[in-house]
Amino acid sequence: MQVSTSHEKWSSRLTFIMAAVGSSVGLGNVWKFPYEAGVSGGGAFVLIYIACILVVGLPILIAELTLGKQGQMSPPNTMRTLAQREGRSSLWQSVGWLGVLAAFMILSFYSVIGGWALAYVPKFISGDLITTNPDVVTTEFNTLLASPVQMLAWHGLFMVLTIFVVARGIHAGIEKAVDILMPALFFILLALVIYAAIAGDFGRAWSFLFAADFSKITPDVVLNALGQAFFSISVGLGAMMTYGAYLPKDVKIPRAATIIVFADTMVALLAGLAIFPIVFANGLDPASGPGLVFVTLPLAFAGVPLGGFFGTMFFVLIVFAAITSSISLLEPVVSWAEEHKGVKRSLSAIVAGFLIWLLGLLSVFSFNLWGDVHLLEMFERFETATLFDLMDFTTSNIFLPLGGMAMVIFASWIMSRETTETDLGLSPALYKSWLFLARFVAPIALLMIFAYNIFG
Ligand code: PHE
Repeated sequence: MQVSTSHEKWSSRLTFIMAAVGSSVGLGNVWKFPYEAGVSGGGAFVLIYIACILVVGLPILIAELTLGKQGQMSPPNTMRTLAQREGRSSLWQSVGWLGVLAAFMILSFYSVIGGWALAYVPKFISGDLITTNPDVVTTEFNTLLASPVQMLAWHGLFMVLTIFVVARGIHAGIEKAVDILMPALFFILLALVIYAAIAGDFGRAWSFLFAADFSKITPDVVLNALGQAFFSISVGLGAMMTYGAYLPKDVKIPRAATIIVFADTMVALLAGLAIFPIVFANGLDPASGPGLVFVTLPLAFAGVPLGGFFGTMFFVLIVFAAITSSISLLEPVVSWAEEHKGVKRSLSAIVAGFLIWLLGLLSVFSFNLWGDVHLLEMFERFETATLFDLMDFTTSNIFLPLGGMAMVIFASWIMSRETTETDLGLSPALYKSWLFLARFVAPIALLMIFAYNIFG
């Protein structure tokens, strides 16, 4: 089939940054980061997380965006073009394919959690969830999980919204969506933090998040923080590569990447500062795990004035954050399809979206009909892992780090130094720092994740 390269380009540097921040700010920040920090003892985790973002995340993000900007196509075709240009094996293309596969898989379960957040908006509006009775809130959440039909419907609705945006293209779809959703997201988040400062126990939340107790730092905490950093800034699967491919030539990547990473980290911390003050004010457990946002938080909101309103806003925030990320997960797939002559974007968004929704059934059923299916139960650490857990594990712990490693190695070892040096436009000292982090520090950190995942 003929490959064409005529993708739309971002209208401005600002829209690109909003879209990329939209991709990175998502369930990872408002759902996963707070509960990971909660179970890992707070401050120590936060500190290591920030170090991982700066030392490993940022150099890889710069590498991934640069590959995209140089290749200007979907991940498989970008990798193929760049490998050809450098006279390397076309096998590098498989990095792009791995990314597309990872995007498929991540979106299939991401949209299930996104569906939960969607389901919570009407539940809050109707007042069903505004109660300080833990049994009621727990039952409400468990009933949702136990019902494949409800879950499928919400998961479906979430996918329809994602497909709708992507089908409309870069300008009319993604840019329009982020232009509205991103400012709304920041505004709601700020309002929630201010509200939490007034209605909750802000001082305790602050010291929980920022007073590092170094005795809590274990290899586990470090690796969790590294994995979370990776997922949170969307690197390793080509979502950022695809967004980088739509960049006009004159945008300098290091600055944009720094802004993206800064915004992503701020949102994660602010989400913590919106959640924990209310959790502490109600004497609830910050270490409740994945149910923190869906069970602990509703209880906490019910215990403070105007909790119903602010609780609703919180779930609207999660939905907005999740959608601006899910569109970046569908885009690499659609971008690839679009590179084939005669394939229409809208049709490929619908077909890919539908297939992803179908794959999502594995995750939906993991919470009910197939709750007892443990495919890898012969291995001790996967004894109780459901299909959902396995999908999450394979993508976050294997595919993303593997993809990230390949991309950072390609950008720093294989691409010619002149290309990266000119393209990045950094001062010699900063360029050398990037090169050092990208060539040595990031790959070694990633090797550690692997070693730990295999032998740990
Ligand atoms: N970064 C997103 C989040 O934090 C998830 C994501 C991962 C999106 C990888 C795109 C690519 O929720």
